[in-house]
Amino acid sequence: MKRMRTQVGIVGAGPAGLVLSHLLHLSGIDSIVVENRSRDYVIGRVRAGVLEQGTVDLLVKNGLGERLLREGLRHGAIQLCFHGRRHRIDFDALTPGRAITVYGQNELVTDLIAARRASGRPVYFEVENVRVEDFDSDPRIRFRFENQEHEIACDFIAGCDGSHGVCRPSIPAETLRIFERDYPFAWLGILAAAAPSSDELVYALHERGFALFSMRSPSVTRLYLQCSPDEDVEAWSDERIWDELAARFENGDGWLPRRGAILQKGITGMRSVVVEPMRRGRLFLAGDAAHIVPPTGAKGLNLAVSDVSLLARAIAAYYHEGREDLLNTYSDECLRRVWRVQRFSGWMTSLLHRSSDEFDYRRQLAELDYVTSSRAAMTSLAENYTGL
Ligand code: FAD
Ligand code: DHB
Repeated sequence: MKRMRTQVGIVGAGPAGLVLSHLLHLSGIDSIVVENRSRDYVIGRVRAGVLEQGTVDLLVKNGLGERLLREGLRHGAIQLCFHGRRHRIDFDALTPGRAITVYGQNELVTDLIAARRASGRPVYFEVENVRVEDFDSDPRIRFRFENQEHEIACDFIAGCDGSHGVCRPSIPAETLRIFERDYPFAWLGILAAAAPSSDELVYALHERGFALFSMRSPSVTRLYLQCSPDEDVEAWSDERIWDELAARFENGDGWLPRRGAILQKGITGMRSVVVEPMRRGRLFLAGDAAHIVPPTGAKGLNLAVSDVSLLARAIAAYYHEGREDLLNTYSDECLRRVWRVQRFSGWMTSLLHRSSDEFDYRRQLAELDYVTSSRAAMTSLAENYTGL
């Protein structure tokens, strides 16, 4: 058995765990990160792409902005496409100074791993059989690494291990309330080697279902299609995907995504989950370990960053000022934002996804008509989308 000691033991090297480790390092607080996947797997996972203004500001302020500011694509608007029309929601006019930045989660995680390496503090990739124990008194993280048992003794554990992690299930179920909602659809997502044919994201509601046009770089387009939760990705040939996208983005002005070789295809389920409280003793949950939002509002990664910025501040106040009040209010503070984001993401989802109900579809078109003609409604969308 190899024994180690640190101040904060972090489970999970996704955005939540890595941003937390970085913020703690800047405050002079030691941590050890353990991750059950390989470094290449963690970087290669194709996931989020949209950073809110507050997320960008936080990353830049903490020295993570160099490549983000150079390569990230700042967007001052999104478009809504429905009933054969396209409309702009102009953030620059509605919420001056606030925009979104398209920067792949892969890129952000690459930068975070580089920053961690530069700090000289450890991340253990490809660990096995992670357990979190004794977090009511004397927290320990135990795991196997290179065929040897390891134990980390720490003051706090940060459960940043995503929606299928071990931290949340280790908390006695009777002390948690879990709120859940399933949605009757999923997204088929692709990455294509094609220069984006629009500088702005396009969210579309069509009789055939939802579609989303996004991008990763000046040469890579990212696209999503609403599909059923049990969809077989093998049933979708490249040609079928492009034809379906063309049908759903049809809007009278001839604009369509540019086609190219499909580099990656995958199905993403849609769920809402909130765990209350986000703390048990000296174990703190953050990011997807504590909550999931449906992807339509582009919020999951941003919520993860927001959680850990509060957690890092609370832990720093504990070590540097002997205060526990911010640790005690951590969960409530996070949950307030989490529920507002659930509200917005749920609203975007129900606005833009097609059910079989014709009444619903007419109601959605009327709501889109309102959202694209009332300045008050557009401003509400803009301020939620760019980040509260
Ligand atoms: P994760 O990224 O899941 O990281 C958790 C880490 O813990 C992982 O590396 C995992 O391997 C590790 N882990 C798990 N179990 C263990 C264990 N037992 N021991 C050790 N390590 C463990 N969000 C947005 O904001 N904008 C978007 O545009 C957006 N689009 C998305 C599109 C898709 C297709 C998907 C799937 C998600 C999208 N999201 C988006 C959500 C976003 O990707 C997540 O919310 C974000 O990754 C959460 O970060 P996290 O660090 O909390 O969790
Ligand atoms: C992307 C993902 C989203 O969930 C979203 O709402 C917008 C963009 C993306 O992957 O680029």
